[in-house]
Amino acid sequence: MKDNFNRRHFIKNTAALAALVGLPGGNIFSKASHDELIGAAATPQPAVGKPVFGLKVPPIKQVRVGTIGLGNRGEEHVRLINAVGQEKAKIVAICDVRAEIAEKSKAFLKENGGQQPAVYTGKPDAWKELCQRDDIDLVTIATPWEDHVPMAIYALQQGKHVAMEVPAAYTIEDCWKLVNTAEEMQRNCMMLENVCYGEEELWLLNMAESGVFGTLTYAECAYIHDLRELLFSKTYYYNMWRIRHNEARDGNLYPTHGLGPVAQYMGIDHGDRFDYLVSMSSLQAGLDEYSRTVEADNEFYNKTGYRHGDMNNTLIKTNRGRSILLQHDVVTGRPYNRINMLAGTKAFHKGYPSQLSVGGHGHGFLKEEEYKEFKERYAHPLWKKLEAEAAKNGGHGGMDFVMLWRLIDCLNKGVPLDMDVYDGASWSVVTPLSELSVQLGSVPVKFPDFTRGYWKNERKLGVIANP
Ligand SMILES: NC(=O)c1ccc[n+]([C@@H]2O[C@H](COP(=O)([O-])OP(=O)(O)OC[C@H]3O[C@@H](n4cnc5c(N)ncnc54)[C@H](O)[C@@H]3O)[C@@H](O)[C@H]2O)c1
Repeated sequence: MKDNFNRRHFIKNTAALAALVGLPGGNIFSKASHDELIGAAATPQPAVGKPVFGLKVPPIKQVRVGTIGLGNRGEEHVRLINAVGQEKAKIVAICDVRAEIAEKSKAFLKENGGQQPAVYTGKPDAWKELCQRDDIDLVTIATPWEDHVPMAIYALQQGKHVAMEVPAAYTIEDCWKLVNTAEEMQRNCMMLENVCYGEEELWLLNMAESGVFGTLTYAECAYIHDLRELLFSKTYYYNMWRIRHNEARDGNLYPTHGLGPVAQYMGIDHGDRFDYLVSMSSLQAGLDEYSRTVEADNEFYNKTGYRHGDMNNTLIKTNRGRSILLQHDVVTGRPYNRINMLAGTKAFHKGYPSQLSVGGHGHGFLKEEEYKEFKERYAHPLWKKLEAEAAKNGGHGGMDFVMLWRLIDCLNKGVPLDMDVYDGASWSVVTPLSELSVQLGSVPVKFPDFTRGYWKNERKLGVIANP
């Protein structure tokens, strides 16, 4: 029965699976076994350059920025980089395929400090001209998922540092392309995982580093966000790009907001690594049913057969034996939640709302006063330093401002960035690996090692060593 199940799914999705592991479909995969597919997923790719662990580039006194994609997220990039201050960063050029969107950001900058960036728009590859400019140090990317990798690779090849939105990539092959190109060009390629800069997440990281949790054993995290109205909106996402992924794919499509902070608590690729995962999706019903409620002239009106199960559960095992439950649900009417649960031999935390148990409090969480004491004692120095500015400038409670300030500040000082291309690849690759596991009946799938063995080295994160 199991074999029939697997074979049916396997044959149906052969081409899609081949694309996930970055290998040609057709003949090879019509004969390939599950083991071959899973083996292909974990196979290391040859390096074409030198590693970029702790990459140091000369200090850039004023970082010259080019921004691609100025929609919901990109206009925030522009607003917040502007808020970092022109002495630290100048926005030299902006690009969006839609002229009216580009003009909106241009007008914002003019009215708020007088920056006058060059504008690239009007054709799908205008962004290439932005990347070709020789007066840009850093290219930021906030475009639909399918555009992240081609844009990042091209910008890196033009000698630019890249900061790209989440997830960095959604095929294994694309994750390798990012790693190999960053190594070849010796440039930073950072995925902008803003949640790693949340007040609660930095505080937990600080406590984990200081030993409050003892030995870390397991974690639970998630992206649970009812996006149905936005997914079906004809105007919110450019060309409704996001629902097309839910229509065509099944797995964890957005893993990094939950997983990024947990990976940092656990020192993933800094002494531990993701070893393998198993993934299972629930029944898909939310999108089918919601599609009946939208206007009849909506392209997705009354459509059925969306592939993405309403809830995806992925379990990750780390090399040191820790486990992580990672969830993804964007279609159920329930409150937003990233869970942010961390367990160790000496303490336990869960988020939403944040509650902490330490030492002898096995059967209950710390009372308000004791909790506050831990909050103050282990407040992260970076957050403390930027607290007032973060409150003023906002962006998901200030985490977006702190992230962009920190990125610019590291480039100003010529110190390594907190997150490197290996983090972006290791956290994002959960998407194609979970798709593979789901399609093959929740089988275990090994992670590729983007660090090529370097993960074994215990390394302190920049945000801990040099906050
Ligand atoms: N980190 C976060 O908290 C967070 C929040 C929201 C979105 N995001 C990420 O940001 C990215 C963008 O999401 P969004 O909500 O802003 O979507 P969006 O549709 O609002 O924005 C995408 C923009 O890219 C532009 N674009 C499309 N093709 C282009 C091209 N060829 N050249 C130039 N511009 C092009 C579109 O016109 C649009 O303005 C996604 O990767 C998403 O996952 C991250």
